Amino acid sequence: MWTEQENNLLKQLEETQKNFWNIDRGTANFLNMLIKLYGAKNGLEIGTSNGYSGIWIAKALKENGGKLTTIEYYEKRIVLAEEHFKNCKVDDAITIKQGSALEVLETLDDEYDFVFIDANKREYVKYFEQISPQVKKGGIIAADNILSHAEKVQTFVEAISSHPDYQTQIIPFPAGLSVSYKIK
Ligand SMILES: C[S@@+](CC[C@H](N)C(=O)[O-])C[C@H]1O[C@@H](n2cnc3c(N)ncnc32)[C@H](O)[C@@H]1O
Repeated sequence: MWTEQENNLLKQLEETQKNFWNIDRGTANFLNMLIKLYGAKNGLEIGTSNGYSGIWIAKALKENGGKLTTIEYYEKRIVLAEEHFKNCKVDDAITIKQGSALEVLETLDDEYDFVFIDANKREYVKYFEQISPQVKKGGIIAADNILSHAEKVQTFVEAISSHPDYQTQIIPFPAGLSVSYKIK
């Protein structure tokens, strides 16, 4: 799936995983497979950092003929992400939106079939409330740090788990990943 050069870059990024709060490789690989399995095309990521998760997500969306929009407010991380997206040849399938996530979300009017939440943990529930009407039936909302930041994301977990439109499962990857399928 990855060329030797791309895999070397991913391995290099994994060495600084803690500095950039990146998801682990297993979670990234799982999201990549999940997107390919159900053929998602229009993706949204909240929390780009240096682009590690975005590379894996965009690679799968691109293979499905789709694209990713990703949100980040730190200029320095965006510069790094742009470079990494280019080196992994997914830059043509990614749009980076710079700004505060809740403000950027207000400007988006697309419908999405894959959303990955990985920014300010206390704001997860607000991201969910804001983006949910734009998630297509059959789409997925995944969120990281569900176990590692359980207290901070509690309102989100309660809201999405009890929501009649979603079927949710928490998967015990190192940080804990929630996967919610929009059933109606
Ligand atoms: C956990 S890191 C994202 C890691 C990335 N998803 C990955 O796995 O490679 C969270 C990122 O979200 C950004 N962030 C946090 N709160 C934000 C907000 N309210 N608006 C935009 N970006 C935000 C941070 O600057 C940080 O780079």
